[in-house]
Amino acid sequence: MSTRVAVVTGGTGTIGTEICKHLAAAGRKVVALCLPGTPDCRLDDWVAARANEGYATHALGCNVAEFDDTASVFKKIEDTIGPIDILVNAAGITRDASLRKMTPEMWHAVIHANLDSVFNTTRCVIEGMTDRNFGRIVNISSVNGQKGQFGQANYAASKAGIHGFTMSIAREAARKGVTVNTVSPGYIESPMIMAVPEEHRAKIVAEIPVGRFGQPSEIARLVAFLTADESGFITGADISINGGQHMG
Ligand code: CAA
Ligand code: NAP
Repeated sequence: MSTRVAVVTGGTGTIGTEICKHLAAAGRKVVALCLPGTPDCRLDDWVAARANEGYATHALGCNVAEFDDTASVFKKIEDTIGPIDILVNAAGITRDASLRKMTPEMWHAVIHANLDSVFNTTRCVIEGMTDRNFGRIVNISSVNGQKGQFGQANYAASKAGIHGFTMSIAREAARKGVTVNTVSPGYIESPMIMAVPEEHRAKIVAEIPVGRFGQPSEIARLVAFLTADESGFITGADISINGGQHMG
C-alpha cells in the first residue's frame, strides 16, 4: 500500500500544525493548507520549521471558503502528490459579538469559512474516496457548537451545522470504507481564545472541571486515532474533548 495522502485545512494554524505533525509521525504524506495572503500563511517558512522538527510536509495556499479555488487546489494535490485518502477540516474563524451587534458580514464570514468550507473540501474528495473504498474525514467543530455561547451565534451555528453534515455523509459513505467524524474541542491554548477578553476567559476556565485549557497536541492525538486505517468502525460520531466543560 502506498503512503496515504492527508490534507489538513487550517493546517498551518495552532491546532492544524499539531495535527499535521501527528499525521506525519503516523507515516502520512501531509499537505497543510492555509488562507493565501494572510500574515500567517508563510508556506516555505512553515514547511522549513516542520523539517527542522523532523517532519516532511507540503503546504499550499487555498481559500477553502471558495469552491472553485478549493477544486483547483485539490486537483493539483491529486495530480502532483497523490489521491487524497484523509481529509481533516480544521480551518475556522471567529467574529464574536452579541446578536444585536452582529453585522451580516460577521455572520457570512463565519458561515463561509467554517461551514461552506467543509462542503467544498468534502465534495472534492468524496468520489475518489468511495471509488477507492477507503477514506477518513474528520471535521473540527467546537464545544460551542454543542452548547451555544454568548457572543457566538454565527460560530455556534457553523459548528453545529458541521455535525449535521458529518452524520449525513457518514451514512452516504459508510458502505464504501469511508468514515466521517466530528471532533468537538473545548477551549484550547491558542491565539483564538486569547482574543476573548480576560474577564470572560477567567470565567470560562473556572467552568472546566480539569481546571485548565486544552493543548493542541491533545486534539491532534485524537485526530490521528480517528484517521488510522484500523479505525473503520467509528463513523458519524461527535467526539467531545473539552476537559469536562460540557458532558452528554
Ligand atoms: N455571559 C453573560 N452575560 C454576558 C456575557 C456572557 N458571556 N458577555 C457579556 N454579557 C453581558 C454583559 O455583562 C452586559 O450586561 P449588561 O447590559 O447588563 O451590562 C451585556 O451582556 C453586554 O452585551 P454586549 O452586547 O455589549 O456584549 P459585550 O460587547 O460586552 O461582549 C462578547 C460580547 C465580546 C462576545 C463577550 O460576550 C465575549 O467575549 N464572550 C465570550 C465569547 C467566547 O467564548 N468566544 C470563544 C472564542 S474561542 C473559540 O471560539 C474556540 C472554541 O471553539 C471554544
Ligand atoms: P487558528 O490558529 O486561527 O487556525 C485556523 C486556520 O484556519 C488558520 O490556518 C487559517 O489560515 C485557516 N483559515 C481560516 N479561514 C480560512 C479560509 N477561508 N481558507 C483557508 N484557510 C482558512 O485557529 P485554531 O485555534 O488552530 O483552530 C483550528 C480549528 O479548531 C478551527 O476550526 C476552530 O474553530 C477550532 N476550534 C478551536 C478551539 C480553540 O480553543 N482554539 C476550540 C474548539 C475548536 P491563516 O493562518 O492563513 O489565516
